[in-house]
Amino acid sequence: MNRDSANMLDRFLSHLESVFFISLHDAQEIISNFHQEMRHGLAGGESSLKMIPSFVGRPKGTEKGKFLALDLGGTNIRVLAVELDGNGNATLAAVSKFVIPQEMMSGTGDKLFDFIVDCIQLFFKENNIGIQQAYDLAFTFSFPVEQGSIASGKLIGWTKGFTAAGVEGKDVVALLSEALKRKEIGFIHVAALANDTVGTLVAKSYADPYCDMGVILGTGTNACYPEKIAHILKCPGLGASEEMIVNIEWGGFSQLKTNIYDNVLDRASLNVGKQLLEKMVSGMYLGEIARLVIVEMMEQGLLFRGTSLSAFSKGYALTTEHLSMTAQGSGFFADFGLRDVSATDRQTIREICRIVSTRSAKLAGAAIAAVVAWMDAKLESDHTIAIDGSLFEKYPGFKGYMIDILNDLFGDRGARIKLDLAKDGSGIGAAIIGAVAAFNRRRMIT
Ligand code: GLC
Repeated sequence: MNRDSANMLDRFLSHLESVFFISLHDAQEIISNFHQEMRHGLAGGESSLKMIPSFVGRPKGTEKGKFLALDLGGTNIRVLAVELDGNGNATLAAVSKFVIPQEMMSGTGDKLFDFIVDCIQLFFKENNIGIQQAYDLAFTFSFPVEQGSIASGKLIGWTKGFTAAGVEGKDVVALLSEALKRKEIGFIHVAALANDTVGTLVAKSYADPYCDMGVILGTGTNACYPEKIAHILKCPGLGASEEMIVNIEWGGFSQLKTNIYDNVLDRASLNVGKQLLEKMVSGMYLGEIARLVIVEMMEQGLLFRGTSLSAFSKGYALTTEHLSMTAQGSGFFADFGLRDVSATDRQTIREICRIVSTRSAKLAGAAIAAVVAWMDAKLESDHTIAIDGSLFEKYPGFKGYMIDILNDLFGDRGARIKLDLAKDGSGIGAAIIGAVAAFNRRRMIT
């Protein structure tokens, strides 16, 4: 590479760094805008944060029994049997995982729910579970749902690439129950409906009383926290308990400085103008942001010179797993038919991945800071943040960047915030919610 090209490359990369940079001032601004949106959302005003009451509080740790959970997330369906010992311990007794085929995400709702029920049946077969009893099932449905009760809720709108027809505006528990009926499965009763963030918070707080936030950093991103019922002004009469977990749906947060790559991604997405924070942070989109940067650099002759653009021309061809591989030191080049990649190109790709993923981690950290500061402005208590999702679990350095921004924002007090992996939290938590719901139902019957 000659000197001019090297200078152009350096200039491009420093420009890239600056358009993706999150300064301390940006993070502080995010916190104050977040608080404003939370306030409006809780009051039922216009807000990019939906602030949805979940109809559950934090568990006591004494919930007991064996429960089924069904977890419909971004790319997979998991069916789990969870045993709760009543002493804060939850064990996975059996679990089966199924990939959701693209045609189920974009077909009809009936097809999608029939497929889900097929997965439940396969779970019983794979794990040799005999059907000697009726089962209460808790349904983790990781999409924005306006809950009407602990076991009912209408899908507000699909996110994360789902478009299945005939589900938006409908009660997803009713749709699941109808599919169970269609397949003549009478021994399963859907006892509870929960967002994955709520499951994650409930799972961790089953044993950790300091846990007061559930966060997902995976295909999508979102969070929940326990709010005082008196503050949920839009829903008077939510009951006698003091607090209820609120699903923030923070993926929709929109008071953000987007750059040209974010705007191009958004315009080509299935939900234009929506889920802006999710599109800048979550695993579904990071690969695509990086791909848009790569395409521009190739067009300018700054990357993979002499290579045709076609390998990178397909939307979403580059995934967050590819970025993660690069961050681990191995390249994704073979997947794109690239051989003999120069040391400069390898280094440039590493830089792009670092820049895109660092912004994601810092935005996630700033959003966590906003919610913690909402609950405890002076950070007088300890806070465990239960986090599930592959970005947090697997992306090298991701957690470190989140901690950096928390420390920048809160100084020494930042150490009071513990970011803890809650593996399988959403499914286990749903089972605990199912236990609470089943207990309440029995209490109502007797
Ligand atoms: C999307 C969904 C939200 C879910 C999150 C993480 O943002 O709208 O409900 O919690 O993804 O899976």
